Amino acid sequence: MFNLSAKMAILYSRIGFLLFVFLLSFSFSVFVSLSFSPADEYLINCGSNVDSTVDNRRFVGDASASNANFFSSEGSIAIQSENLVPNVPQIYRTARIFARRAKYEFNVHDKGTYMVRLHFNRIISSKIDLNDALFHVTVNGHVLLRNFNGDDCDSSSKIGSSVIREFLIWVDVGEILIRLVPSEDSKLAFVNAIEVISAPKDLIADVATSVSNDGTVKLNGLVKQAMEVVYRINVGGRKVTPFNDTLWRTWLPDDEFLKTGEGSSEKTYFSGRIKYRPGGASREVCPDNVYNTARVGRRSKGLVDMSWDFQVSMGYKYLIRMHFCDIASKSLGRLYFNVYINGNLAYQDFDISYSTDYVLASPYYIDFVVDSNNSTSGSLITVGVGLSNKTSVDEHGVDAILNGVEIMKMNNSMGSLDGYVSTETILSSCPNRRNLSIFIAMMAFMCIFMSFYIVAQRKKVKDEYGWTKLSMDVLEDDPKSVNQFVARKP
Ligand SMILES: *[C@@H]1O[C@H](CO)[C@@H](O)[C@H](O)[C@H]1NC(C)=O
Ligand SMILES: *[C@@H]1O[C@H](CO)[C@@H](O)[C@H](O)[C@H]1NC(C)=O
Ligand SMILES: *[C@@H]1O[C@H](CO)[C@@H](O)[C@H](O)[C@H]1NC(C)=O
Repeated sequence: MFNLSAKMAILYSRIGFLLFVFLLSFSFSVFVSLSFSPADEYLINCGSNVDSTVDNRRFVGDASASNANFFSSEGSIAIQSENLVPNVPQIYRTARIFARRAKYEFNVHDKGTYMVRLHFNRIISSKIDLNDALFHVTVNGHVLLRNFNGDDCDSSSKIGSSVIREFLIWVDVGEILIRLVPSEDSKLAFVNAIEVISAPKDLIADVATSVSNDGTVKLNGLVKQAMEVVYRINVGGRKVTPFNDTLWRTWLPDDEFLKTGEGSSEKTYFSGRIKYRPGGASREVCPDNVYNTARVGRRSKGLVDMSWDFQVSMGYKYLIRMHFCDIASKSLGRLYFNVYINGNLAYQDFDISYSTDYVLASPYYIDFVVDSNNSTSGSLITVGVGLSNKTSVDEHGVDAILNGVEIMKMNNSMGSLDGYVSTETILSSCPNRRNLSIFIAMMAFMCIFMSFYIVAQRKKVKDEYGWTKLSMDVLEDDPKSVNQFVARKP
């Protein structure tokens, strides 16, 4: 009996130890997974032979011998800014310039969504005038930019004079092929830095709610669309820079987009811990820095409805991701509100406590899709939150909240994100090629013409020579005539 219990004790302690080891490794893996490490990550410092570190991230120079295999183009040149503005990250001080069609090629391991960020800064150089920049950019069958000049008056993520354009691309095959194509023969293409990063699996969900004047319907197949991130907004908060974001994104404050309730709308800040849960948003989907600030509407302050306006292009569908995290309510089950897209009811009586499994300060997001062609508001997307019929009896509670908004443009039926044009059209109208073929045709014509001319000339020369020779031969016999002939020559 004693023996048995001793054995049991040993067994239990072993189980305990194993459990301890298991929990330790589990918590370690949880700790490690706090920081996202992508399967594939390429950070390229274009036109530079040195690596450069920006926000603890190493951008490798594409001009160093070991990295030159990333790009291929004849006659590309690397330029360096001569205008040394302070506080400009090193990646914006160099650029690679292409007078012809060029490509950057990256091998990727997984099938899935990739983030592609292109950085542009029209640097000043005596070698080349970037006012001549006008080009197209394609990636794996999608047109990303058309007749782009490297500048952007209304870019949402400008750092000084630099422009960052961010795309989400689904990749089936093992490579990402970025092509830069000058728009005309006399124009140039350029790029300062490139990021290609495999996105976390949960970044883009396949299903969303499509909202129109006719109501809402479920929409599938989002994962495989190419998208461009056009707005990324931290509502009620400060700018979040790549340094403070889990996926090195930039989130801008919402002030300039807020339409109603401006001034009187209440910003709120939360200093506690954001409780990420399975089934809700993950830290990679949206960081703490966005969820821990919000704008709230309260009946007690006479303001519940809030809305934000975003300028977009006509002719595209947009994915609108709204981020919610109840950092303002004192208790659960009290916050209900309606969500509006372009004035249409997109979500009635949204119960944030229910959606977050009854955990306060737990993040949740909802994806909506609108078609800018079927919308009465035209090139404006309006997102809003407002009073619900089910609102709580608590007169002093929170009646609406919004923490963040992202707006992504989806590719059109041509697979393009910039105009009704396909990559085939762009690549086949490549000016170098067309002009080259005209040039080749002209050369061929010239050759034929020249050869005819030469043959004709030769024949003529031969005839003349033959005749002269003949006459000389004849005349040779008579030295006097030769002298006459020579004398007559000058
Ligand atoms: C990162 O966030 C912290 C706290 O939110 C802030 O103090 C700091 O300035 C931020 N850093 C950058 C580079 O944005
Ligand atoms: C409020 O409730 C009424 C009926 O219960 C319904 O007809 C109306 O659409 C609701 N309005 C909103 C904004 O939820
Ligand atoms: C996006 O492009 C793909 C082809 O690459 C196409 O199948 C899809 O229908 C396009 N999306 C839209 C919304 O037209």
